[in-house]
Amino acid sequence: MRVLVVGGGAREGALAWKLAQSPALSALFIAPGNPGTASWGSNIAIAVDDVAGLVEFARAQAIDLVVPGPEAPLALGLTDALAAHHIACFGPSQAAAQLETSKIFTKELCAVAQIPTAAWARFTDLAQAQAYIRARPAPIVVKADGLAAGKGVVVALSTEEALDAATAMLADRVHGAAGAEILVEDCLTGPEISFFALCDGETAIFAGMAQDHKRVGEGDTGPNTGGMGAIAPPPLDDPERLIETVMARIIRPTLAAMAERGMPFRGFLFAGLMLTQTGPQLIEFNARFGDPECETLLPLIEDDLLPWLVAGAHGALDPTKKLSWREGASATVILAAKGYPGAYARGAKIDLAQAAHLDALLIFHAGTIEQNGVLQANGGRVLAVTATGADLRTAIERAYRGVDAIDFPEGFSRRDIGARALSAR
Ligand code: AMP
Ligand code: GLY
Repeated sequence: MRVLVVGGGAREGALAWKLAQSPALSALFIAPGNPGTASWGSNIAIAVDDVAGLVEFARAQAIDLVVPGPEAPLALGLTDALAAHHIACFGPSQAAAQLETSKIFTKELCAVAQIPTAAWARFTDLAQAQAYIRARPAPIVVKADGLAAGKGVVVALSTEEALDAATAMLADRVHGAAGAEILVEDCLTGPEISFFALCDGETAIFAGMAQDHKRVGEGDTGPNTGGMGAIAPPPLDDPERLIETVMARIIRPTLAAMAERGMPFRGFLFAGLMLTQTGPQLIEFNARFGDPECETLLPLIEDDLLPWLVAGAHGALDPTKKLSWREGASATVILAAKGYPGAYARGAKIDLAQAAHLDALLIFHAGTIEQNGVLQANGGRVLAVTATGADLRTAIERAYRGVDAIDFPEGFSRRDIGARALSAR
């Protein structure tokens, strides 16, 4: 089986690492990949948004399966373009990717399929949005409808802050066309978890739960990031019951509603959930695996992942089967460039030699480049340091041992990844 992974971050590193272990694999390409993915396959210099280039490569190389990591190629219709050439892709069509690319699309689907989610309203008119915000209690959440590079959500603690956010989006167009329409929704409270399913358009298979750490600062302070670390599994009293509830009330109804609309969802479905007093509520969907959740979860999956993704891409998942999991826990700590998520420098040197042989440690590259044999930082999130262990405490300790053994003085990490989960146990 010849496989092309699309993406250049740590999530794609984890996918490449996992797929490289498959006995069914004959060739693995990563476009564009990074210095880390080169250990598991061949990096190909094609950008994730170069749909024509990716399709051309897949045709020329007789690729059997394409596995897109990020949302950008999905939003641009990579899956549809590959399908036109009969090339299988484990990712949703452009239409089905609306579950991530349009928050209003998802909220309307939730209404039809009776999926639990926060009460909401949509606005293109600023005066109407202001009136609605004034009539609801704060805190309240203001969101741009479209993709806004993870910055389109404002959880406003006061009415004033919500009014400002609505003005910035609708009048000042800080997110451009992505904010031409906004949602205003009630604020949910409770622990937040990331829930994943493998989908083939009809069948969904549970594919793990993890807890991300989105704020840049310890104690969940400071601005939002792409994710500063993750742990799995999250601390839950009754995980089996939660899985069954979420599959029955959120994931399966979504697949059914999507199929009914003629846009069956194939690929990784990522549900961001708030575990409220009254049960799990959907915050948002993403049409892809999470990053860093993917780095955290894949080392816990015992099965060969490739046959699952092939079955998913061909609409052939067996609803009676489950993924098999390893015992234990996993933790990922992100090493980021100082300044992230604001402005940061590129080019700082990184030396991984001392960390290379530590126990149960995996270092996935997120934003690195190799120049004249020297590894350098080349992004905001730079490395995703992942470790597994018999329990969460061990996994976290091992991950930090790895972080501390990496020589990257221009980097920083949060030192409290998983701390809340440990104290909850
Ligand atoms: P997003 O950019 O859509 O991932 O949202 C960013 C974060 O905003 C989420 O991870 C939640 O922590 C928070 N959030 C979004 N919607 C709500 C809501 N209705 N209530 C409370 N928090 C929310
Ligand atoms: N870690 C959250 C995301 O991938 O969107």
